[in-house]
Amino acid sequence: MNLISSPGRPLQGVMCVPGDKSLSHRAALFAALAEGESRIENFLVSGVTQAMLQALTAMGVSWALGGDEPGGERRVLVVQGRGLGGLRSPAAALDCGNSATTMRMLAGALSASMAGALSASMAGARSAAGVTATLDGSPGLRRRPMNRIVDPLQQMGVEIKASDGCAPLYLRPSNFPLRPLNYNLPVASAQIKTCLLLAALAAGGPTTLVEPGPSRDHSERMLRSMGVVITAEKGYLDGKPFYKTSLTPPKGRVLSPLTMALPGDFSSAAFLIVAALITPGSEVTIQGVGLNSARTGLLDALLGMGADICITGQTNRSDEPVGDLQVKYSRLHGTSICGEQVVRMIDEFPIFAIAAAYASGVTTVSEAAELRLKESDRIGVLCEELRKLGVKAVEHPDGFTIQGGAPVQGGVIAPHGDHRLAMALAVAGLASHAPVDIQDAQIIDESYPDFTQTLQALGGRVVVE
Ligand code: S3P
Repeated sequence: MNLISSPGRPLQGVMCVPGDKSLSHRAALFAALAEGESRIENFLVSGVTQAMLQALTAMGVSWALGGDEPGGERRVLVVQGRGLGGLRSPAAALDCGNSATTMRMLAGALSASMAGALSASMAGARSAAGVTATLDGSPGLRRRPMNRIVDPLQQMGVEIKASDGCAPLYLRPSNFPLRPLNYNLPVASAQIKTCLLLAALAAGGPTTLVEPGPSRDHSERMLRSMGVVITAEKGYLDGKPFYKTSLTPPKGRVLSPLTMALPGDFSSAAFLIVAALITPGSEVTIQGVGLNSARTGLLDALLGMGADICITGQTNRSDEPVGDLQVKYSRLHGTSICGEQVVRMIDEFPIFAIAAAYASGVTTVSEAAELRLKESDRIGVLCEELRKLGVKAVEHPDGFTIQGGAPVQGGVIAPHGDHRLAMALAVAGLASHAPVDIQDAQIIDESYPDFTQTLQALGGRVVVE
């Protein structure tokens, strides 16, 4: 499938974005580890969350998804929790598709699930012998680094092996309880942190993780609401900030079920925000967007570039801040991004680069080498595709420079199996000099299946061929 976006029409209207991907992954998985029934409203139904749900089925977890019918209730996921030790050994390798988040979180949950051996009271100690599982995925996922979870899990005593530091991952029953961990993460990463926090639920004492940056804290918020004691603290060492998270395993290793309504995904809203900012005459309101400060670095970056964005209706939804964003076409200027702000907008660099291409002056991104390890090399591949549209984009080992303000041309673009690259480049075509044709655009379904329809509903000229 090709997606062709063309310039010429302003975007106007009021929209919602689908439920948050990070929260959907967590809610489904954590609910499976709880005792009792969880209900999650506004669950994201997309490629990556389907992989998570299928993995749950393969591990013996019952769930049901309602509200799919037109005009029906917002997507509601109901999960029958099996308890921390209740996951069953899957009969075949768990297919995590293209999603490192799925793989890393499942590895943590499976490690914790072996705690079933600890407590006969827990769901009848259904997995008392521990779980054996293989985690695998797409060729793209097999290239992503997994030693970053395998090494610390092994330190905890988890029997896990990778293949040359990558997937497939092999888990075998381990001795319990797991060893409590004191660990400095080499990079700020919510995926690693969540994996280790899940495993820490099965440890014999408190675990402490230290990160060099403020990765998203959704897991901490959700686990607290399930009765787990987690503390978080920011400190400084030699003038450098660090972020410390400590978890104490819950009494009896019981997690309470979840009742949640998930906020809209800021990372999906990001495409609509930039689309409105760069398309002359646009005025768009996006309602009910998650505004967790560990996710909204892009908002700060755009405001610093002169964006006209107004936040209204701020409130809390299921322990997460949400609000409405009113966005108007703006003349943007270049900026620099580094340090903690990179972590706070880690998924937004493809669409940020489009804003930079339409801004006057130079934009630089540095201290962002982690971008090379995402769904695609979001430094090399991003610059390569932008240059096809006539954008002056230069890559550096840890970031890129964009000389903005020159006319953005049309062209044929490859998304390199990266959903966010595909959507970002589609947005670029709404204000370019000629249409932008994105090949293999079905990858967008990984995180935002309604992307095309939403742009069309706002008046954007996007067609599928
Ligand atoms: C995610 C964390 C981020 C992000 C990914 C989702 C999560 O990765 O890039 O899309 O849900 O925890 P890292 O925190 O590992 O960089």
